[in-house]
Amino acid sequence: MQTLNWPPLVRIQHWLTVLLVVLCIGAVWSHEAFDKSNPLRAQLMQVHFLLGGLIGLLTVPRLLTRALVKSPVYEMSPLVALLAKAGHLGLYLLMVLLPVCGYVAVSGKGLPIDLLGLLEIPALPVSKEVAKVFKELHEVLGNAMIALVGIHVAAAIFHAVVLKDKVLHSMVGRASG
Ligand code: HEM
Ligand code: HEM
Repeated sequence: MQTLNWPPLVRIQHWLTVLLVVLCIGAVWSHEAFDKSNPLRAQLMQVHFLLGGLIGLLTVPRLLTRALVKSPVYEMSPLVALLAKAGHLGLYLLMVLLPVCGYVAVSGKGLPIDLLGLLEIPALPVSKEVAKVFKELHEVLGNAMIALVGIHVAAAIFHAVVLKDKVLHSMVGRASG
């Protein structure tokens, strides 16, 4: 069996996404802890918009890199390989669709989107009704992302602890080659 590390650029892109996704979801969850009168609540949502937008933007070069590199080769059944591929495809799709739905949802207010005073993004010309549909879609997809990341992390741990193969090692640069 030939097992390779993922190239360093892919590893950097992967772990940077992990960090941004954790902070992005952490921001939207923690905003609930603050009262509407507390400015921190709106600021945490702005952090969510900023990090979420960044995830979407960084997914474009990530997909380009992915198209250009060779993936490590593992010994696994075709069904497991197919499931892993489907899960990864789902994660990539959500990394693109979530920011788009979020942007349309927030545009419903008809005001430019303030990102902590660092940037102001113009609102898209959408009605309140359309924005509401995208808000609900964003919520469903956001929860799907959490579920899929949970399965993804569990699978990575299963590979390392139970199967004792090199799948997790390949993403931390410790597969033997
Ligand atoms: C990959 C990037 C993103 C992820 C993973 C993500 C994830 C989430 C999650 C998990 C929620 C909570 C859903 C719930 O209530 O159950 C949420 C809510 C929300 N997100 Fe995002 N999001 C992303 C990007 C964005 C972007 C770019 C925007 C806007 C520009 C945005 C706007 C919102 C809004 C307005 C809510 C509703 C908050 C509320 O309940 O008041 N999101 N997001
Ligand atoms: C602690 C958390 C995580 C661990 C331990 C982890 C581990 C891994 C490992 C070992 C792989 C390589 C799988 C293979 O070679 O077949 C991988 C691939 C991948 N991970 Fe993660 N991951 C984590 C979090 C995330 C998060 C939060 C996302 C995005 C939301 C994500 C998105 C992806 C994607 C899209 C791939 C596919 C790479 C490709 O084949 O193009 N991961 N992850």
